[in-house]
Amino acid sequence: MKVLVIGSGGREHAMAWKLAQSNLVSEVLVAPGNGGTTWSGQDGLAPCRTVAGNVEDIQGLLALAQQEGVGLTAVGPEVPLALGVVDAFQAAGARIFGPTQAAAQLEASKAYSKRFMAEMGIPTAEFGTFTGKAEALAYLDSIDHLVVVKASGLAAGKGVIVCDTKDEAIAAVTDIIDDKRFGAAGDQVVIEERLTGPELSLLAICDGKTAKPLIHSRDHKRAYDGDQGPNTGGMGAYAPVPEVGQDVIDEIMAKVVQPTVDGMAKRDAPYVGILYAGVMLTPNGIKTLEFNCRFGDPETQVVLPMLKSDLAEMMLAAIDGRLNDVTVENHAGSAATVVMASGGYPGSYAKGKVISGLDGVEPATVFHAGTADKNGDIVTSGGRVLAVTGTGADLQQALDSAYQGIKKVNFDKAEFRTDIGQSSIENQQS
Ligand code: AMP
Ligand code: GLY
Repeated sequence: MKVLVIGSGGREHAMAWKLAQSNLVSEVLVAPGNGGTTWSGQDGLAPCRTVAGNVEDIQGLLALAQQEGVGLTAVGPEVPLALGVVDAFQAAGARIFGPTQAAAQLEASKAYSKRFMAEMGIPTAEFGTFTGKAEALAYLDSIDHLVVVKASGLAAGKGVIVCDTKDEAIAAVTDIIDDKRFGAAGDQVVIEERLTGPELSLLAICDGKTAKPLIHSRDHKRAYDGDQGPNTGGMGAYAPVPEVGQDVIDEIMAKVVQPTVDGMAKRDAPYVGILYAGVMLTPNGIKTLEFNCRFGDPETQVVLPMLKSDLAEMMLAAIDGRLNDVTVENHAGSAATVVMASGGYPGSYAKGKVISGLDGVEPATVFHAGTADKNGDIVTSGGRVLAVTGTGADLQQALDSAYQGIKKVNFDKAEFRTDIGQSSIENQQS
């Protein structure tokens, strides 16, 4: 079976790499892919080919899948899901893994997902949703806790403003509603109670009824060491988080993930695909910060290397509603990934820098993100350039492997965090 992966980041490279290991898969196509998504087949790994495509051109993607005789399509980013790529493929009888447009609202509209959580009794921060500035400011006057102000729509992970004072909250509301800082994504604003505690990403595969967790992980969203600097798409991740026990995972499945799958089925929008629950472990218990309707980036670059089971088989079982019969197995040990970014990211940065040393990172694995193949040279073409994943018997070994790999790779003005996973390492030592 040929498989098509839609998207171009490190997440999609990791999806293609894992799908290529399946006995069911003869070839992987990635549209539009990146400088790392082309390889020839070898023992135990199907070949992979980068093909032209635009993640917002739903009819073009469907035509591509049909022309290539693709048997399974897997969607990386949220934008095509929110545009209804799954609905279009289903209508044409093509097999695709991901939620429908209706189910993808869990990510595409924070106002929808907060109201859904309130209705289902899923633990989340106190909140209000607003379209007008006057009501939003009146709400701020009526509460006496710190808040986080969010654009409701898709804003590439940037639509969240964590406020230290009420004045900052007023400024954030003004920015989003009056100054349209996030464009139409800010037509609705969510104001929620600011919570504290460590965060956790739990990705579950869902078939509309049944949900099974993949290994849990932790992202590092801030640009610089010590969780300083601006928010980014994610600068590194590790899995599992050693101090988080199975009891916490069971609780998230019971109080957050399963009620979401049950609630969406009741709303006639059955959830099929990866449901990503972003959770905060607060002093008052677990609280859901957000849902994403897809694999996380860079969480996927650690979650899939830890997955022992066949991903293609899992996706087909989810599409066919038979996940109950599937066991999700993980490898023992840990995985850690460190993102190498272009100097200046998440602000402005240069592109077209030649990347060297990519062949020397073994036993670590490089997942390409913002890279392109320019006449045989791999050059930078985005903010997050690549992620180097190490695995090992424990978190320290996985980190050592990832950082040894990172040392081998070079490009002008490369930046990366040197403290991925350190909070858990220090936790273990204390
Ligand atoms: P979101 O895209 O909604 O997950 O928000 C992005 C990041 O903002 C999260 O990973 C948190 O670090 C932070 N954040 C979101 N909501 C809250 C909240 N209610 N309290 C504190 N921090 C939050
Ligand atoms: N790592 C955060 C996200 O994928 O949204």
